[in-house]
Amino acid sequence: MISIEEVIKEYKSDIKNSLDIDKLENKYLSRKGYISELFKNLKDIPAGKKSVYGQQLNDFKHEIEDYIKQNITQESQSKLEIYPVHPLDIQSNIGGLSPISRLIFKIQDIFEQLGFSVAVGPELESEKYNFDLLNIPESHPARDVWDTIWVQNPAGVKSLLRTHTSPVQIHYMENNKPPIRIIAPGKVYRYEATDSTHETVFHQVEGLFLDDKASIATFKGVINYFFKELFQQDIKMRLRPSYFPFTEPSFEIDIWLQDKWLEIAGAGMVSRKVLENGGITDHNIQGFAFGLGIERLAMILYGIDDIRLIHSADIRFISQLGKIQL
Ligand code: PHE
Repeated sequence: MISIEEVIKEYKSDIKNSLDIDKLENKYLSRKGYISELFKNLKDIPAGKKSVYGQQLNDFKHEIEDYIKQNITQESQSKLEIYPVHPLDIQSNIGGLSPISRLIFKIQDIFEQLGFSVAVGPELESEKYNFDLLNIPESHPARDVWDTIWVQNPAGVKSLLRTHTSPVQIHYMENNKPPIRIIAPGKVYRYEATDSTHETVFHQVEGLFLDDKASIATFKGVINYFFKELFQQDIKMRLRPSYFPFTEPSFEIDIWLQDKWLEIAGAGMVSRKVLENGGITDHNIQGFAFGLGIERLAMILYGIDDIRLIHSADIRFISQLGKIQL
């Protein structure tokens, strides 16, 4: 028969040797542990000593329980230190707007100061709006320049991913009366080989300004203001004669930056034919339109030398641009 004194002695040495709490609990407090063994002895203890023995045994049991209670947290804590759990070990890279979206918002802000509002049109266009109503008939060589991605349309309408934002001009004229001052930002698509300055998907901002006196001088004033606000400095600009079927006369807008002329936009006075196609028959109404390439502007502003990086979704690239304040 094992005596309580022996067990207490063994317990003291276990504690001294910092016996593992689980083991300690098992050894002393489990169903087959020492304490229950010692309780079984109770029946063999002489009647007069039973209560003292019982008391002593209970006290011992409580002592062990207290010890375990106190040490269990400490021990589990040290286990945690071996296998650390960091409660906030979460990747906290919060996403943000793409540099292109931010640039579009900036452009909207500037034009809003001049009384422009923002219009949108569909990316999936009909041939009629993308080409015909803009004075680009089937036989027109300009269609080759803008060969595109055709989409099968169950309704039988010849549809394509718009090659430019100019169809928004027609949509807007059809639904609104002059004076008109809008910009229309959005995605456009071109079926062509990509290289460092060409992508199959990119963004344009269309502009349309119509009233009874808008002239090329008005246009120059508006676009000059825009560049000055965007680049926060005076920008030298030139209009170079060009050709678009929907403007007459037409020009390319170049700006002088870093010792060279950079082509930024196509523009011109909206042709009479296009005004009529949009339902404007009043000959007093005239004005201008332009189409700015957003990626090209972004490349200049941010110093990007390959357009393909912009939509590459490469986090190393995007996170660098995220730091740029516009
Ligand atoms: N839509 C033309 C393009 O994509 C740009 C443009 C817009 C030219 C408006 C004239 C007027 O190149």
